[in-house]
Amino acid sequence: MAKIIAIINEKGGVGKTATATSLAHLLAKKGYNTALIDFDGQGHSSITLGVKNPNLLKMTINTIIRKIIEDEPLPAPDSYIIKSKSGVDLIPSNYQLFTLERNLCNVDFRERILSQYVNTIKGDYDYIIIDCMPQMGTPMINVMMCADSIIIPTQSELLSTQGLSELLRHYQLVKQNSNNKLKISGILITMDSANTNLSAQVKDMLQNSFAGSISIFQTCIPRSIKVAEAVGHHKTICEYIPDNPAAVAYEEFVEEFLKNELSSKRKELSAVG
Ligand SMILES: Nc1ncnc2c1ncn2[C@@H]1O[C@H](COP(=O)(O)OP(=O)(O)OP(=O)(O)O)[C@@H](O)[C@H]1O
Ligand SMILES: [Mg+2]
Repeated sequence: MAKIIAIINEKGGVGKTATATSLAHLLAKKGYNTALIDFDGQGHSSITLGVKNPNLLKMTINTIIRKIIEDEPLPAPDSYIIKSKSGVDLIPSNYQLFTLERNLCNVDFRERILSQYVNTIKGDYDYIIIDCMPQMGTPMINVMMCADSIIIPTQSELLSTQGLSELLRHYQLVKQNSNNKLKISGILITMDSANTNLSAQVKDMLQNSFAGSISIFQTCIPRSIKVAEAVGHHKTICEYIPDNPAAVAYEEFVEEFLKNELSSKRKELSAVG
């Protein structure tokens, strides 16, 4: 059964999509069967993984969710899952997903619609990565209801870290009331300008605010214009320029993430045994 990893921060432009697509690509490269659900109407993960114009797509995550809401049979996965060149199976998205919050508002068990879908493909993958939209609300609660863990990308700027307390409040509520397996893998600092005072201050602030409750990945992703350039070529930075410092950092981040996963699995097993 796949591990579901959600990439969440309600702040926009903090590196969620760059992280989701790089993580998914690097996991696939390591041989894990990996899918990525683009859960943002902007369709940025879809674009990065090769879709030229997501708004022309006939079937997206929104189509699937509509079918679950209407209690209609789901289409065969082959008919909508895009096998991207990065090795990742993409469940794409487009602007139609902007209507999701409204479409869910009168639906019974509306927080569990995405879980119903994910359960249908969970057996086919080792990892399912969910790239999230930059706002809280019912769609994000849906994500937290089906995720095993959350990665929170944040820029090393004060404004990017401001929404974290609100995100943590939602996380605690979902964990206590509905999805007690949910955990936070960690905060990932992105677009870092190392050796600046601001970067050091924000890292200290994060350590002081969250140390003990949330871990902060040791790996930081440096700022590089090539990350944005890669998107124009429909590639992750790791495919586009593998030896770029941001690509190397994403490789290190994935190693750190997998090492942490393994050690928490060992802890769980020894607690049971
Ligand atoms: N390490 C980096 N260095 C420089 N630019 C980056 C880096 N990571 C991402 N970017 C660029 O910054 C912009 C925002 O990144 P990204 O789209 O990953 O953020 P996001 O959190 O997904 O945004 P949104 O909230 O709009 O979905 C994009 O143009 C992206 O190419
Ligand atoms: Mg994004």
